[in-house]
Amino acid sequence: MKKLLTVLVALLMVLCLAGCGAKEEEAAGPKEVNIGVCIYQFNDNFMTLYREEIAKYFDALSNDEVKYNVEIVDGKNDAATQTEQINTFIAKGVDALIVNMVQPSTIEAVEDAAEEAGIPVVFINREPAEAEAHQYGANQCYVGAKAQESGTYQGMIVYDLPNHGDLNGNGKVDYVMIMGDVNNTDAQYRTEYSIKYLTDNGVEVNKLLEQTGNWDQAQGQEIAANALSNFGAEIDVIFCNNDGMALGAYQSIVAAGREVGKDIYLLGVDALDECVEMVNAGTMTGTVLNDAVGQATACCDAVVGFLAGEDVETYQYVPYVMVTKD
Ligand code: BGC
Repeated sequence: MKKLLTVLVALLMVLCLAGCGAKEEEAAGPKEVNIGVCIYQFNDNFMTLYREEIAKYFDALSNDEVKYNVEIVDGKNDAATQTEQINTFIAKGVDALIVNMVQPSTIEAVEDAAEEAGIPVVFINREPAEAEAHQYGANQCYVGAKAQESGTYQGMIVYDLPNHGDLNGNGKVDYVMIMGDVNNTDAQYRTEYSIKYLTDNGVEVNKLLEQTGNWDQAQGQEIAANALSNFGAEIDVIFCNNDGMALGAYQSIVAAGREVGKDIYLLGVDALDECVEMVNAGTMTGTVLNDAVGQATACCDAVVGFLAGEDVETYQYVPYVMVTKD
């Protein structure tokens, strides 16, 4: 009997050790890091490039030791949808959040919720008003670009034309401004600073129309089509707050039988590949590189920095670059 017991105990010990060993093996995989990424809307050319870069970056960073699981969700340009998505990520206990606010004016609610849950957040691309005065919480930062700069570059491109943009020779630059989302600081500053550069340099301007196209190509096309039919040859320049809307405006320019560079000028921001090609072909007057790769890299570096417990710079601005035909 005693012998039998000893054998049984020994058997149990062996089984237990084998079991423990298996468990250890299971746990020996790479450390999983979960990152929740909230994009204001997937249907946005620039933010599409941006989110693809974020995914690529964390893919490249994953190895045998650490695996980054990146979940990217579409806020569908709806604040309530985005709030729910952020709350879900927080409830799941993600290790870090990247947030492209649908409504930057409500940023504090996100900051508070994340801080309470101890989750670092990198806000990207959409800043609250009074951006420089905005105080982020601990383990939070903003990565973007100074929109004033992009507006100034648009103005500079027009100013540098031999006629300073006055194609029809009536002594002033008659322009149409197709704006992004009016509540967005990028849209506000680009609208203001493109014109400011011209007026600061003594160029007279005449605003024929200023209308929001919500960053959207189809809306850009429609606004330009109406402007071209209402103002015809009066229009010297169509400024678009982004390339998406400029692509739409270009379709209407062609449909109206006008020719960029010859009887109208067209400006955008972002330097999407197709727009850079157009600039080189002369079918777009100029654009400004909004560096999606640079911003995505800075944003992911910030996440990695927070996770490593490092000090991360709170306000990070990636420079814009002027793009003209050389
Ligand atoms: C980009 C736009 C984009 C917007 C979204 C801007 O910085 O230039 O193309 O639609 O961000 O917030």
